[in-house]
Order: sequence, then structure tokens, then C-alpha cells
Amino acid sequence: MNSFRTLLYSLIVISLTLTNVKCYIPDPRTGQASVLVGSNLYFFGGTRNAKYNDQVLYLNLSSSFNTLSPPWSQITTSPIPTPLDSPFPCLSTDGSTIYLVGGMSQDHSNSSILMLPSSYTYAFNTNSLQWATPNISNFNIAFLGREEINGVADSNGKCYFFGGYLTNITTTSPTVAYNDTNIFDTKAMRWLTLTTLSNTPSSRIFCGVVLKNNFIYYIGGVDNRNEIDMKTIPSFDTVDLKWLYMSASGDSVGTRYGHSAVLTQDGLILIYGGLGRSSSQALPDMATLDVSVTPYVWKAIATNNAPPQPLVFHSATLYRIYIIFAFGRIAPSQPLPDSTPLTSNDKLYIFNVKNYTWVNTFDVTITYGPNPTESKSISLGAKIGIGIGVIVAVGIMVVVGIFFYKKFHNRKGFRNSIATPGTQYI
Ligand SMILES: *[C@@H]1O[C@H](CO)[C@@H](O)[C@H](O)[C@H]1NC(C)=O
Ligand SMILES: *[C@@H]1O[C@H](CO)[C@@H](O)[C@H](O)[C@H]1NC(C)=O
Ligand SMILES: *[C@@H]1O[C@H](CO)[C@@H](O)[C@H](O)[C@H]1NC(C)=O
Ligand SMILES: *[C@@H]1O[C@H](CO)[C@@H](O)[C@H](O)[C@H]1NC(C)=O
Ligand SMILES: *[C@@H]1O[C@H](CO)[C@@H](O)[C@H](O)[C@H]1NC(C)=O
Ligand SMILES: *[C@@H]1O[C@H](CO)[C@@H](O)[C@H](O)[C@H]1NC(C)=O
Repeated sequence: MNSFRTLLYSLIVISLTLTNVKCYIPDPRTGQASVLVGSNLYFFGGTRNAKYNDQVLYLNLSSSFNTLSPPWSQITTSPIPTPLDSPFPCLSTDGSTIYLVGGMSQDHSNSSILMLPSSYTYAFNTNSLQWATPNISNFNIAFLGREEINGVADSNGKCYFFGGYLTNITTTSPTVAYNDTNIFDTKAMRWLTLTTLSNTPSSRIFCGVVLKNNFIYYIGGVDNRNEIDMKTIPSFDTVDLKWLYMSASGDSVGTRYGHSAVLTQDGLILIYGGLGRSSSQALPDMATLDVSVTPYVWKAIATNNAPPQPLVFHSATLYRIYIIFAFGRIAPSQPLPDSTPLTSNDKLYIFNVKNYTWVNTFDVTITYGPNPTESKSISLGAKIGIGIGVIVAVGIMVVVGIFFYKKFHNRKGFRNSIATPGTQYI
């Protein structure tokens, strides 16, 4: 009798467990590409357990959830055709196609062998969930295998790229960081590489990129040698195709790389996380840059409650009143001993950008505007259209991927190169 009861009890527990297991929890990763399409926030590839991966995940933002059990799904039937680290996602204007540009691949059976991807772009159809390898005229072949291409999308289906790096897979010679400006027009399927101007910034990786009113702002990051000064902000004029520089006053904001940057509804550029000098957490961890005044003004942000673990190489996406921070690595508060890998993150952190509060609940019923009922009726409808609107109008998406120490044979070298101007990075 007792054992029957135990058996029955066990069965009930097992079946309860099984019904609850439907919530998929992705592994931690870094070097992922993320893009919002309607209410689905997609994540592609990246590095997981020291291997590049071909996974396609999405977070369904159409209903409210708790950060402890986010509504993740993996599209297991349609992986990326190759494992891919740090590509950049460009969305077609109708939201039907996500182009993954650049990114480095690996041999399927031996992850210590880096491989250039077989195609310079992989196109994912968000309706059929099929992959294609489209042709882009005038593609710049120097982009094959390039990572961290500091991209941003405008409202006309154009993506702008500046710099990035290419790991030299033929030899153990240095990784090369670039300073070229490229434009991918997803409507015309045409690539344009601009001539380098005399005032083009130095090579750039791991910076925060934000588009606002036809200007692209490049915040922080590193070049071949140094961390980039946060007091002089380069911007690229997408109409006249030229570079401008503006000084930034206000609060002191530490140099950093691997942080994220998002344009908020208030028109401020909000940066978060990243690594500063000596490869520890950049401070302050959150700040806003107002580019509507001359000179620009930095403001350190004191949030209403304690921040979560500081992140670096994470993704950041604005959706309604929230910024969703995902994946990446934990930025240590103190420098770690040399060649200690940074811990990978599998969590989502959600920030209420309306009142600067970290939250545990993503509440889909709250909208940014002063009249919630009015905006609510618009927002749930045409998913795709609104999604693009969100990306475009608000400028949002910034993908900061990974700098994974193993990929470069000597992480210490990278650190030293930052600290010691004159050496080449790695
Ligand atoms: C997202 O969630 C909503 C409500 O939970 C559901 O109706 C919809 O089918 C989901 N969409 C996808 C693409 O999973
Ligand atoms: C993987 O490739 C590396 C570098 O070529 C080689 O040293 C190693 O033996 C390979 N491992 C396997 C399991 O084939
Ligand atoms: C791409 O271009 C090549 C050569 O111009 C052509 O053979 C191929 O069919 C094209 N592929 C697609 C998908 O259009
Ligand atoms: C990679 O290394 C080889 C040999 O040193 C060199 O010829 C080639 O130019 C390098 N490639 C890049 C992109 O630097
Ligand atoms: C930009 O890159 C080119 C080619 O690698 C290089 O000659 C030039 O010095 C770079 N400019 C800066 C400012 O780094
Ligand atoms: C921030 O706003 C949310 C809803 O928008 C509210 O629930 C929360 O209490 C607010 N927090 C603070 C500290 O004002």
C-alpha cells in the first residue's frame, strides 16, 4: 500500500516535472548576433563551451514573463548552415529576411581549426525558417570571416559597418583590426566600400554603435593598440558620408570595450557594461550621452536598485519600456589572474528605462508613452511592421559580441597591448 502510494506520488512528480520542462534554457554564450523581428528577439550563433555554434534561438516577447523563466525557443530544424561567431544581423525592410554578415567559422569536427565561412552572407527567412546564400554585388571580400564589424541598421534596409577584426587563420600572425567603412543595401543587394578619408577614425573593435537622425555614433571600444577616449566621440554622417568629431563633457566615464549602447526613447545614448583598464569592470557601469547639445554631455546613471552582475560582450535590445541584456560574460570587479577566462552568462537582465530600475518581470502591458491604452492598441497588431519600426525609429539594436581569449592564442598579449601603447594587439 505504502509502496503503491510512493509509486503514484513519483508518477505525479515526474509528470509535473515533464510538463514544466517545456521551458527551454539556452547555454551561456558570447559572440551571438541578436536582432528584434516583431516581438521575437532572435539570437544566432556565438561561442558556447569554447566552440562556435550554429544555433538559432528566439525570445518570445509577446507576453509577460519572469526573468527566471524567459520564454526561450530554439529552432532546432533550421540551424545556421555553419557554426558562426560574431556575425552582424541585417534585417530586410519587410522583416522577412535576416542577413548574417561576416563572422568566423570552425571546422565541424575539430573546433581548434578556424575556417572562413563558405558564404559571406547567410540569409534566414523568418517565415519559412529556411536558409539561403544570397549574392551581394560588389561584396568586399575582406569581410569574409570578419568579426565584430560594429554595425547598425537604418530605416531603409541599409546596414553600416565600421572596422571589426579578422583572425589570420593561415598563420599564427596577428589578428588584424580594420578601419574601413562599408554599407550593405539589403534592398538593392549591393555592397559599398567607402574610400578611407583623412579623418577616418583608427581601427575599431568592441565599441557601442548607435544611429540617431542620420548620424552613427561610435562609443568607446579599442583600436589596434589602445582603448578609445570617451571624451571625443566620432560620428559618421550617413547623408554626406563623412566623419565628424565632438567632445563630450559632464561626468567622468571610464574607457571601455565590449559594452552595449542603445538609443532610448528620450533620444539619449545609454551605455552599459564592458571592460575598462586592466580588463575589469568599466565604471560607471551605466551612463547616458546626450548628443543633442554641444559639446555632448555624459551623465553617470545611478539606478534605483542594485545592478545585476556586470556584463561584457552581451547583447542589448530596447523593447517597449525595457532594455533586455542577454548572454555575454561577467565583467570581474577586480582584474583576474592572466589567462583566467571570464565566466559566461546565460541570464537575461531587464532594465526599466522609464524609471531606471532593474526588474524581474517583463510586463508586456506597460508602454512607454503617456497614454498607455492608446499605444497598447497599436502595439500588439502588425508584429513585423512594428518590430522594424522599433528597431529603426528607436535605433536600438546593438550587438556586442565576444572577445574570447582562446581564439587568440594569447589573451595576456591583448591586455598588455592595451596597457602598453606601441605594441600590436595580440
Ligand atoms: C509567442 O507567444 C504567444 C503567446 O504566448 C503565442 O501565441 C505565439 O504563437 C508565440 N510566437 C512564437 C513565434 O513562438
Ligand atoms: C584538431 O586540430 C589541431 C590543429 O590542427 C590538431 O593539433 C588536433 O590534433 C586536432 N584534433 C583532432 C581531435 O583531430
Ligand atoms: C549568384 O551569382 C552566381 C554567379 O554570378 C550565380 O551562378 C548564382 O546562381 C547566383 N546565386 C543566386 C542565389 O542568385
Ligand atoms: C596572414 O599571415 C600571412 C603570413 O604571415 C600574411 O601573408 C597575410 O597577409 C596575413 N593576412 C592578413 C589578413 O593579415
Ligand atoms: C586605416 O587602415 C589603413 C589600412 O590598413 C592604414 O593604412 C591606416 O593607417 C589606418 N588609419 C588609421 C587612422 O588607423
Ligand atoms: C518603475 O516602474 C515600474 C512600472 O513601470 C513600477 O512597477 C516600479 O515600481 C517603478 N519603480 C520605481 C523605483 O519607481
